[in-house]
Amino acid sequence: MKKRTVRTIVTTALAMIFVGVWTTAWAAGGDAKAGKEKYDTLCFVCHGTSGKGDGVAAAGLPVKPRDHTNGDYMNAQSNQRLFDVIKKGGPAVELDKNMPPWGGSLSDQEIKNIIAYIRSLAVPKYEPKK
Ligand code: HEC
Repeated sequence: MKKRTVRTIVTTALAMIFVGVWTTAWAAGGDAKAGKEKYDTLCFVCHGTSGKGDGVAAAGLPVKPRDHTNGDYMNAQSNQRLFDVIKKGGPAVELDKNMPPWGGSLSDQEIKNIIAYIRSLAVPKYEPKK
C-alpha cells in the first residue's frame, strides 16, 4: 500500500471514531461517567452512592432525598426540570429546601453529565423522548 493510502485510511478511521464518540455524548446530552464522579462526591451524602436516597445525611432530613433509581417517578421528570432543580435547588421547582442549589459549584455541562448519570440509574430503564 502506498503511504498516502495508509494515511487516508487512518485519517478516515480517526474521523469516524471522533464523530461516533461526539454524537453519542451529544445524544445523551452528557457524560454519565464524569457525572458519576461528581455525584459520588457531592450528592451521595443525601442521595446515597447507589442513588436510592439513602445517604448518611438522609435520616436527619424531614423530606427524604429523591430515590433516583425509582424509574416510575424519575422517568416522568423532564431533563429541564432535573437541570433546574440541580442548578437552582429544590425550592426553584417547589421541592424541599434541603435539596441545595449547585449552580455556584457546577457548570451547565457538569450538571448535564450528572443528569446522564442519574438517567442511567432508573429502573425501569429511562427511554429518552425522541
Ligand atoms: C443535603 C442533602 C442533599 C444533597 C447534598 C443533594 N440533594 Fe438532591 N434532594 C435532596 C432532597 C431532600 C430532595 C427531595 C426534595 C423534595 O422531595 O421535596 C432532593 C431531590 C433531588 C432531585 C429530585 C427532583 C425531582 O424532580 O423530584 C434531584 C434530581 C436531585 N435531588 C439531584 C441532586 C444532585 C444531582 C445532587 C448533587 C449535585 C444532590 N441532589 C444533592 C437533598 C439533597
